[in-house]
Amino acid sequence: MAVQLFSPLRLRGLELKNRIVVSPMCEYSSQDGFANDWHLVHLGSRAVGGAGLILFEATAVSPEARITPDDLGIWKDEHIEGLRRITSFLEAHGSVPGIQLAHAGRKASTFSPWKGEGAVPAEQGWQTVAPSAVPFSPTYPQPVALDQAGIQKVLHDFREATRRSLEAGFKVIEIHAAHGYLLHEFYSPLSNQRTDNYGGSFDNRIRLLLEIIDAVRETWPAEYPLLVRISATDWTEGGWTIEDSVKLAKVLKDKQIDLIDTSTGGNVPQAQIPVGPGYQVEFAARVKQEANIPTGAVGIITTAQQAEDILANNQADLILMARELLRDPYFPLHAAQELGVDLEWPVQYQRAKRNK
Ligand SMILES: Cc1cc2nc3c(=O)[nH]c(=O)nc-3n(C[C@H](O)[C@H](O)[C@H](O)COP(=O)(O)O)c2cc1C
Repeated sequence: MAVQLFSPLRLRGLELKNRIVVSPMCEYSSQDGFANDWHLVHLGSRAVGGAGLILFEATAVSPEARITPDDLGIWKDEHIEGLRRITSFLEAHGSVPGIQLAHAGRKASTFSPWKGEGAVPAEQGWQTVAPSAVPFSPTYPQPVALDQAGIQKVLHDFREATRRSLEAGFKVIEIHAAHGYLLHEFYSPLSNQRTDNYGGSFDNRIRLLLEIIDAVRETWPAEYPLLVRISATDWTEGGWTIEDSVKLAKVLKDKQIDLIDTSTGGNVPQAQIPVGPGYQVEFAARVKQEANIPTGAVGIITTAQQAEDILANNQADLILMARELLRDPYFPLHAAQELGVDLEWPVQYQRAKRNK
C-alpha cells in the first residue's frame, strides 16, 4: 500500500500535500494581538520542514477572547498585514495556512504559562464571559454569564474575524470548540447551567457552536474548508461524553463541516486523563466511523510509523502534531526518509538530503 502519511488530501477546493498538520500552539508572544517576527520564524520553519497544513495558534476574535494579554488576535483590521506576511511565506513553501479562531470564555484573562498561574491582576486583565457565572477554578477569574446582547457580540466577532482571515490569506479556518474555552463551556453540562435556549438540552448546549458555524460560513468561501476542534470527552462523571461527540459530529456533518479535530479535556481542573502515546486516537476513530466524517487525530503522536498506522487503520484522515514539531520542525522531511518516500526538500537545503 502507498504511504498514507504523504498522500494528498482534498478538502473542498483545496489540496493538502500530505497528512501532517501543525497543531495550533499558543505562543503568548504578541503585543496587542499583533503577529511579529517570532510567528514568522516559528511557523515559517515548519513550512520549510514540509508540513501540509499549518494551523496558527488560538487567535482571539476580540480582546476579551484572549487567554492571556500576550495572545495572537484578529479583532481589528490592523492585525491583517502581519498575518498576511506569514501566510504568504507558508504558501510560497507549499504549506496551506490555516487559522484557529478562538474565544477563551471563562479561561481568559490569565497569565502566560511562564509568567504566572491563574488570573492576572485586575489592572492587566478584563471581565471574562461564560455560559454561566462559574469560575474554572478558585484561582481563575469570576466570569459573568453572557446575555443575549453578549451572545450577539460573540457572533459578530467571529463573523468579522472570518472576513479578516480571508483578507489575511488563510485557506482553512478551524473553530476552537475544545479545551474548556467558550464553545466547549457551552456544550458541556459541567459548565453550562443556563435555563434559556442555550442551556439544558443537548440541542440547546450546542446552539452557540452551530450559530458560530453559520456566522463563519456567511463570509467564508465555499471552496475553503471549515474544521472544528472538539474535546471529545470531559473525562469526568456527568460531563460531555464520546457518545455526545458522535451525536454532535453527525450534526456538524449535516452543516458541511469538513473535518473534526478530535482532542479531549480542559473544561474542569480535576479531570483524570490517562495521558500516553496516541491516547486520543480512539476518539478520532469513533467519530470518523460512527458519524462518517473525516477526523484529525492528535495527542502524543511522535513517530512516523505511529502516524502512518493511524491513517492505514482508518482511524483518522489527518495527523496533528504539536510538541514533536516543536522538537523537530523538519519532522515531515525525516518521516518521509524513514517511510521510504522521496520528498522534495527546499532547494536551499537540497545538499543536506544526502551526504553525497
Ligand atoms: C505550547 C502549546 C500551545 C498550545 N496551544 C494550543 C492552542 O492554541 N489551541 C489548541 O487547540 N491547542 C493548543 N495546544 C494543544 C496542542 O494543539 C495539542 O492538541 C496537544 O499538545 C497534544 O498534541 P502533542 O502531544 O502532539 O503535543 C497547545 C499545546 C502546546 C504544547
